[in-house]
Amino acid sequence: MKILFIGDISGRPGRETIKSVLPEVQNNIQPDLIIANCENAAGGRGITKETLNELQGSGIDYFTSGEHVWGIRQFRDDLYDSELPIVRPYNYEQTDTLPGKGFDVLDLGSKGQIIIGSLIGQTFMREPVRSPFWMFDEMYRELESRDDLDLESTPFILDFHAEATSEKVTLGNYVKDRVSAVLGTHTHVATADNRLMGKTAFVTDVGMVGPLDASLWVEFESVTHNFKYPYKEQFKMAEEGRRVFNSVVVEIEGKEAVSITRFDKVID
Ligand SMILES: [Fe+2]
Ligand SMILES: [Fe+2]
Repeated sequence: MKILFIGDISGRPGRETIKSVLPEVQNNIQPDLIIANCENAAGGRGITKETLNELQGSGIDYFTSGEHVWGIRQFRDDLYDSELPIVRPYNYEQTDTLPGKGFDVLDLGSKGQIIIGSLIGQTFMREPVRSPFWMFDEMYRELESRDDLDLESTPFILDFHAEATSEKVTLGNYVKDRVSAVLGTHTHVATADNRLMGKTAFVTDVGMVGPLDASLWVEFESVTHNFKYPYKEQFKMAEEGRRVFNSVVVEIEGKEAVSITRFDKVID
């Protein structure tokens, strides 16, 4: 099975980039499933049902998220719809009482099942979360107890949405051989450390889709101001300049990853 995983899609520039780049990428790579982190897809902070629909229309099958999944009020209600093709981080306090799901088992018909999970980091993050290490074990136990699932042979993609590179690589090692891939998101900065860890594909950060001549997705003027002065300005989306498309392609046999390669593109 070949999975294309796309980094944080940021705002309208990100969605436009997906629309223009994805058909060609799909044609070249021929993935069985396309997953993307969409926590920033609506205006840079949050998601709406409309943006999800738009991205599905562009060819993305399933979505992961992060702390910005809570950014737009209406979407918190939308998350109660268990059919919505999105996971939010699993390891929140009181996770069972929150809208949305931390992992999902998809049925791909003749291609079998696949598990998609989401965890968020603790280091340098402000979220009220529990340890992704302990909570991964909990998630795994929950999956083990399901009798509609053979965990030993089912591909399992885990988005680890975290800031600290040390936490990310350490979690990768911790869950290796139990999942098919640990794909880092959140920093919007693509890393070149894609590799296999045992039977698990790993990359610290997939990167992003959206403005390249910007800080993450923020145009430089407002963010520079906020670094220089104690009184803050609202971040503005960088609409001008080049755009970047960051992704990885993971090949999986049974549950075991056999390769992880980057696919990146810059558009003038
Ligand atoms: Fe993000
Ligand atoms: Fe994030």
